[in-house]
Amino acid sequence: MITTKFFMTFRSSARRILLPLARTACIGLVLILPMTSSIAAPLKEATTTEQRVQALLSRMTLAEKVGQMSQRNASDGYAPDYLGDGLREGRIGSVLNVVDVDVVNELQRIAVEESRLGIPLMVGRDVIHGFKTVMPIPIGQAATWNPAVVEAGARAAALEAATTGVNWTFAPMIDISRDARWGRIAESLGEDPFLASELAAAMVRGFQGDDLSATGTIAACAKHFAGYGAAESGRDYATTNIPENELRNIYLPPFKAAVDAGVVTLMASFSDLDGVPATANQFLMRQVLRDEWQFDGFVVSDWNSVHQLSIHGLTANDRDAAFEAATAGVDMEMAGDAYSSHLEELVSEGKVDIDVIDTAVANILRAKFRLGLFEQPYTDPDDLPPIANEEAMQAAKQAALQSVVMLKNDNDTLPLNADSLGSVALIGPLADAPYEQLGTWIFDGDPELSITPMHAIHSLVGRDVDVRYVRAMQNSRSRASEAFDEAVEIASDSDAAVLFLGEESILSGEAHSRADINLPGDQAELVRRIRATGKPVVAVILAGRPLTLTNIVDEVDAILFAWHPGTMGGPAIADLLFGVESPSGKLPATFPRMVGQIPIYYNQKNTGKPPSPDTVVLIDDIDARAPQLSTGMTAYHLDAGYTPLFAFGHGLSYAKFEYDDIRVSAGEIGLGDVVTISADLTNAGEVAAEEVAQLYIRDLVGNVTRPVRELKGFQRIEVQPGETVTVEFELHTDDLAFYGRDMRLVTEAGDFHAWIGGSSETGLRTEFRVVGN
Ligand code: NOJ
Repeated sequence: MITTKFFMTFRSSARRILLPLARTACIGLVLILPMTSSIAAPLKEATTTEQRVQALLSRMTLAEKVGQMSQRNASDGYAPDYLGDGLREGRIGSVLNVVDVDVVNELQRIAVEESRLGIPLMVGRDVIHGFKTVMPIPIGQAATWNPAVVEAGARAAALEAATTGVNWTFAPMIDISRDARWGRIAESLGEDPFLASELAAAMVRGFQGDDLSATGTIAACAKHFAGYGAAESGRDYATTNIPENELRNIYLPPFKAAVDAGVVTLMASFSDLDGVPATANQFLMRQVLRDEWQFDGFVVSDWNSVHQLSIHGLTANDRDAAFEAATAGVDMEMAGDAYSSHLEELVSEGKVDIDVIDTAVANILRAKFRLGLFEQPYTDPDDLPPIANEEAMQAAKQAALQSVVMLKNDNDTLPLNADSLGSVALIGPLADAPYEQLGTWIFDGDPELSITPMHAIHSLVGRDVDVRYVRAMQNSRSRASEAFDEAVEIASDSDAAVLFLGEESILSGEAHSRADINLPGDQAELVRRIRATGKPVVAVILAGRPLTLTNIVDEVDAILFAWHPGTMGGPAIADLLFGVESPSGKLPATFPRMVGQIPIYYNQKNTGKPPSPDTVVLIDDIDARAPQLSTGMTAYHLDAGYTPLFAFGHGLSYAKFEYDDIRVSAGEIGLGDVVTISADLTNAGEVAAEEVAQLYIRDLVGNVTRPVRELKGFQRIEVQPGETVTVEFELHTDDLAFYGRDMRLVTEAGDFHAWIGGSSETGLRTEFRVVGN
């Protein structure tokens, strides 16, 4: 038997020799324990995961069960020192925020070897968009509209995180967000349920792989269940009020997709949903998640969110909070101690049924068995690929390339031609900011790996083009314009100016919401000053959210919106600026003209008074059009109209894509049938490029009103110059289903419109009818 002492100094040099021994010991432990137990029989016979779960559960004391339901923070110094006793006594089921593999192995060793039942730990960490190698922020990844790229990014992140012993990430974050003020829109997959669902499933596949017990796969966590993205006025943690019908049709589908993709865990949201905080919400966790979706993984609270039930005003103290959360279906408490302090007593007094506890513990054990932790609790980094290897860097570059959205490109200003351009001025606080380009939630991200646009442009064209750089602003928020003169001078002296603008990473993410989403600081003034030089001006905008760009959009010739593009953001941006690649990103969220338009999203309802160009009288035209005012009685803002600045799905290319000849396979189909909708896509430009073709539908009449458009399909296709391809989408009538008045999923017979095109504004339309059987 391997002794405690033998493992006390479990250091890297010894790891190679010790790990195989530890594995054998551990398997031995699992085999031996049942023989020595008084209830050996059930474990001995246990072969399926479910039998193993039940056999182990049957041997646990109440204290050990509550222990499995308790997660502890392990980032305050050397965790084995202060968590050791808790682990030995079986009072801890999981830890988070420890990424030193030796420490993780030691924590696992104590749990496995020194606790009575030897149950290994879930080791959690926020690996949101990469580990050391950082992918674009999730909303940037969503702009790729490419599940394969998103999956590859999650896979690279899992492989790197797994080297530390982390076996559980708190991702993907799949809260639908229609409010760019919300700082966490950066972590989201945007505003659309269909796109977010496809990408949520891809991320789950990337983290979890085909075999969760394989080396290098980690458990995913779909969060935050549910509705968090609807925080009032985009203020993080604020109240949400979402009618059940909207919850089911808009906010829940990505979670359902994650569950269908096999996600092992979900995290309850911090937020209050219609008066019942998500952490105590039985409707969400019992009715929807367990009864309707048959989810058999486990639900973790958010950080101390059980305790916060009392701060919300739902409960009076931690004891009541533990009661509410546990009975509602939160299986594990993150970071707090409401469960460990009160659950045993609540069960002993008969307030909480032991079945509630047993179910929660079974859910947790099931996940641990699936992860293969009983067979292999330890990590040897040498079993995994090296950090930041070529494949990971390529995944980061590919994702960054496809995430950049070209919002405008007047007079084909882009791509810049390195052969004819003598000099270029790179100006702005984000041209050479290795940390800022990584974005929010990069606990472990390594800025030293970042290649900035400034460096990448130098390496790409530095031999042919005179590349000049002036930062001009200390950071994106600066209000000091002293350095603007130098920037103007350099721009005046160059053939073109590229401005690197936007938001530093600290301006988005958790608890970093903004009420004004213009370019911060004096950036708009910098743009105006550079514009006045008369040189071509390109804006590359790095930001954690959609911004209101109305005040600069006409002051620049072209805009590349690059989100926070991650480690390889620089090379991707350089390739796009100089035409090595064509932009192919598409907006996963609507860009408002003004913040007052929020919430603004493409899949809105029609209203009884839909606006149209001829009904809009804007504030400056009121006198001129006074006689026609009666026609202006429609749903728009006097000062903003009703259209966004850039629509969902928008994104330009260096190719010239033209859609034509939309058609349906049948004008009428029966319920249960499939209709094929297709169109021709021609590249009338001069370069090969990828286009994301999009399919939208409208269900004209429903027992609840239906959105004016709904995304139902998309395809990323490469088209050569002069080539015409057919884009074809198959729609089963189940794909047209929605939750109706009775909250049941139904496809109603009736008339549908369908559009194919390069954005949600496409006008290429056809029609079909679904007839009842
Ligand atoms: C709070 C955040 O809301 C959640 O997303 C995150 O996973 C946890 N903290 C753990 O860091």
